[in-house]
Amino acid sequence: MITLKHNGDRDFRLLNLTDPQLKAEEWEESNKTGAIFKKTVETLVSRVSPDLITLSGDLSYAGDLVSYKNFADYFDSFKIPWTCCFGNHDNQDGDAPVRAVLDEYKKHPCFVFEECDPALGNGNFAILIEKNGKSAEGVILMDTHDRVPYKTDECGKNLAWAGLTNAQLGWLSDRITGLKAAGCNDTTLITHIPINAYLEAAQAAFKNPKPDKSVTLADSLGTKPWNAGYEDSYGVFHEPLSAYPEDEGAFDLIQKLGTTKNVICGHNHVNNWVVKYKGVRFIFGTKTGIGSYYEPDINGGTVLCIDENGVKSVNHEYVDIKELL
Ligand SMILES: [Fe+2]
Repeated sequence: MITLKHNGDRDFRLLNLTDPQLKAEEWEESNKTGAIFKKTVETLVSRVSPDLITLSGDLSYAGDLVSYKNFADYFDSFKIPWTCCFGNHDNQDGDAPVRAVLDEYKKHPCFVFEECDPALGNGNFAILIEKNGKSAEGVILMDTHDRVPYKTDECGKNLAWAGLTNAQLGWLSDRITGLKAAGCNDTTLITHIPINAYLEAAQAAFKNPKPDKSVTLADSLGTKPWNAGYEDSYGVFHEPLSAYPEDEGAFDLIQKLGTTKNVICGHNHVNNWVVKYKGVRFIFGTKTGIGSYYEPDINGGTVLCIDENGVKSVNHEYVDIKELL
């Protein structure tokens, strides 16, 4: 298992970025989309001083190796450990393009990664954060693939967003158990596509558990959208939740093993709600940049502050880009 050691009084800061979806040409000097992405990341790095940067998938589009290489060169330039899991767009042409990206990324000294059984996908690995010599936090990144065959619906569609497979859940169980054996009792799971239990969490927390663009970010910071008991939730629900449509068993496993207190996903660019449900904080990461679809107010990243006992706070950090649009 990879270990990152951190000493001193200051919390370890994990900065999660998600869904930049940048194409090669958008990295060029004069391109607005690339400029907004870079301004966002540079503002966040300077404001947060992260100790680890995670990207929760959909960096670019499969096969655009120039863009993927640009990500690696760019993130390595900060001299901060960084890593990623892959999203549906990264995975949309099968394994070979993702393997080509990983071959490139592994040449970059700040890229944090560990190979596991390729039958489980590309990029399932765990990072142990050791704070002042104590096993503080396990960060587990998993590959949620692209789409999978599913029953045909009334519109004739027969694909669904993929969930974690049974084999992956077995691997996850082993990792969490291994982290517990190493004295780590706080774990964060990062995937691109939300696990199915996000649907349950939304049903429990929202008075209106459906996408509602009339509820603004400012509204979400108050109590108006939330059911009793969920008033500490925040963030918007502006598009349908794109999880695997049936319970894949991830939440049962997490609850049984007990130490996973936070799950983070991306994929839905204009959802960034954070809800604590049955002891687990369900987090939609704030989208980074304007690649593909976006809302100008929902731009930035998500910061986890970690001390010796694990994650002690989760906040979205926003970067104002309106003057660049
Ligand atoms: Fe996605």
